[in-house]
Amino acid sequence: MRTPVRNDVREGTRILKILLLAGDGIGPEIMAEAERVLAALDLPVTLDRALVGGAAYEATGHPLPPETLAKAKAADAILFGAVGDPRFDAVERHLRPEQAILGLRSELGLFANLRPAKLFPGLEDSSALRPEVAAAIDLLIVRELNGDVYFGEKGLRTTANGEREGYDVMSYSESEVRRIAHVAFRAAQGRQGRLCSVDKANVLETSQLWRDVVIEVAKDYPGVELSHMYVDNAAMQLVRNPGQFDVVVTGNLFGDILSDQASMCVGSIGLLASASLGEGTKGLYEPIHGSAPDIAGQGVANPLAMILSLAMLLRHSGGDEASAARIEAAVARVLADGCRGADLGGTMGTAALGDAVVAALRN
Ligand code: IPM
Ligand code: MG
Repeated sequence: MRTPVRNDVREGTRILKILLLAGDGIGPEIMAEAERVLAALDLPVTLDRALVGGAAYEATGHPLPPETLAKAKAADAILFGAVGDPRFDAVERHLRPEQAILGLRSELGLFANLRPAKLFPGLEDSSALRPEVAAAIDLLIVRELNGDVYFGEKGLRTTANGEREGYDVMSYSESEVRRIAHVAFRAAQGRQGRLCSVDKANVLETSQLWRDVVIEVAKDYPGVELSHMYVDNAAMQLVRNPGQFDVVVTGNLFGDILSDQASMCVGSIGLLASASLGEGTKGLYEPIHGSAPDIAGQGVANPLAMILSLAMLLRHSGGDEASAARIEAAVARVLADGCRGADLGGTMGTAALGDAVVAALRN
């Protein structure tokens, strides 16, 4: 992953081409708020839109239509809402809404998923953990995104005794581990200099190779303190003493699970943003939560993770640290002022929270 050019997009001549993929469920509602925040910043960007997920399947018969993929390839950055719709649960797996995000991640070579989790001041009592334990959380999960059981051979077969058997093959090649390890070590260099690699090397061959390769890569980063943890222990430590973690690097499946767990430690899954990056500055940015069909269309979804994903987009693909920091400061201010949606025990709706962030940006 190359470091993005650190010029402010305001000053440069570069116009950032952003593709908005709102998707399903609460996706369109929260995307609308991110767009309002973007409009308030008045940056040199162009916006395009396309269908994705269940919405695309309904309209075109495919969750990731060729036109959407082509637009994604042409864009500098993709802001992604959410996919998933229970109406399509019975559809063949390769046509389900979730395949759209998996397809984008693999087709665009977005192998490095950054999921920061930090407690916003004022949310100490919203965490599922004791306030003093939660207050110490400031970690970054670096999740590998193009391999593991997600992309291994999978299927349904019949065993010799006539039973149905499902299988999903877990594997990692050393080059896949090496490239994500480099991303994680570099991230640790820019933070507190501590990296914890999470695996299940006591049971899985895949994990043993993972650990061996991470140890090899560590030789290039003498300033970073490397530790290893089994995933079951990591899940336990994440609620016992999350303050011990700086950067965590792990595979696709373990990272999926641990990042949802980390979100409740900081108060709500509605607050966690993510960046999916490849070798260049192109990236896909999305909240880590899903489409939440149970609350879709009611105007009660928390738009903050979506808005924070926009901040990550401007930082990593736009090279615009100043605007990213402005958005993050506005979100922090809104939370410190006591603004809360239903997910945090409050009554503010999606648009009201968006209004509050836009107002905080202007102040
Ligand atoms: C995530 C989601 C996705 C994943 C789903 C929607 C396929 O849970 O981004 O964490 O499992 O990666
Ligand atoms: Mg997940």
